Amino acid sequence: MNLDLARARADTPGVNRVAHLNNAGASLAPQPVIDAVMDHLRLESEVGPYEAAEHAHEAVEHGRTAVSTLLNCHSQEVAMFDSATRAWTMALTSLPFRAGDRVLISPMEYGSCYLSLLHLARRRGVRVEVLPVNPDGLVRMEELRARLDERVKLIAMPHVPTHDGLIYPVAQIGMVARQHKIPFLVDACQSVGQIPIDVNEIRCDMLIGSGRKYLRGPRGTGFLFVRRELAEQLIPVTVGLDGVAWAAGSAGGYRFAPAARRFDTWETNCATRIGLGVAIDYALSWRVEQTWPRIQQLAADLREDITRIPGVLVQDRGQERCGTVAITVQGWDAASVRAELHRAGINTWVCLANSACVDMQKRRMTSLLRISVHYYNSAEELARLCAVLESLTVNSSMHAVL
Ligand SMILES: Cc1ncc(COP(=O)(O)O)c(C=O)c1O
Repeated sequence: MNLDLARARADTPGVNRVAHLNNAGASLAPQPVIDAVMDHLRLESEVGPYEAAEHAHEAVEHGRTAVSTLLNCHSQEVAMFDSATRAWTMALTSLPFRAGDRVLISPMEYGSCYLSLLHLARRRGVRVEVLPVNPDGLVRMEELRARLDERVKLIAMPHVPTHDGLIYPVAQIGMVARQHKIPFLVDACQSVGQIPIDVNEIRCDMLIGSGRKYLRGPRGTGFLFVRRELAEQLIPVTVGLDGVAWAAGSAGGYRFAPAARRFDTWETNCATRIGLGVAIDYALSWRVEQTWPRIQQLAADLREDITRIPGVLVQDRGQERCGTVAITVQGWDAASVRAELHRAGINTWVCLANSACVDMQKRRMTSLLRISVHYYNSAEELARLCAVLESLTVNSSMHAVL
């Protein structure tokens, strides 16, 4: 079935101002999300923020239920955060690691997630091991299997890295993790809202996601899925009023709230929480299974068109690829290319080495230009991008001749 592009663009006011190809950073929000956030902020200013929260209690709580519908899990297995990094950190620090325990990761880890792992290694004596990858960037499954023993207490992988279009076969990795009863943590920040996700198909025990990227929700939203059986074993490093139940008649005794609720804090940004719920409803109304093939096709067409531009190199690896297209332009640094595109009304992003430090340092790369498409982008926007890239390489070869 063909997707109604005209309706998708009519719902997205930002497309009238800019060709937004930075969806892996943060997408343009659709009108229902903008309205929901603004309406709640207005209500807060009119009736009082606490009073507005009472009024909108169900809409705020719907954010969590919407995540559970999206991921095919129970709402008790979802914790809401203000960023995916926070969700990741809370998951990691709550696991009962002991010195000498091992954590297996891939070189594709996002910078701040990797940093949390290094911090864990430094504070708790955990050994973080980066698995070797094939030339296509994918983890060698036989190497993963060979490294498993009783000291491996976590396998953590991104579904899609921040700086590359490759998709990790997380369901395959999840199967190995499940066979060996090792908790599996998936970073789905770049895939949630882009690629259909079912935590039961992946067989992951934990998964983090971000609201502002392919889900098109507000900034400052992230979440954690944690399977109920594992959640009951997690000891959060911080506790808040909504994350515990007081023992009856006692100010001294408390126990953690059930499952992922133990991560709840009392204070929250209600407007963005409501906005995330609306964004997920909106994504589900389009059906991720329907929007995903369009994203993949647009990105595949773009890679093909870029390949024809002399001096522009597609840097994506993987066997299956998503909406992220990472490139380098000969004779140009990524920041200057981004600035030229921005001048032409086209948004892209620069991935610096610190955003994916293990992989980019290994490949001796300091920066990449990241172009990331969503289903609401048009072929015409991509053609404009290619025209600018072509003009840059023509200009630089003219300079070289002169
Ligand atoms: C792959 C990946 N993981 C994690 C994150 C962190 O998400 P947040 O900025 O919401 O903490 C990002 C952000 O760009 C990312 O691309």
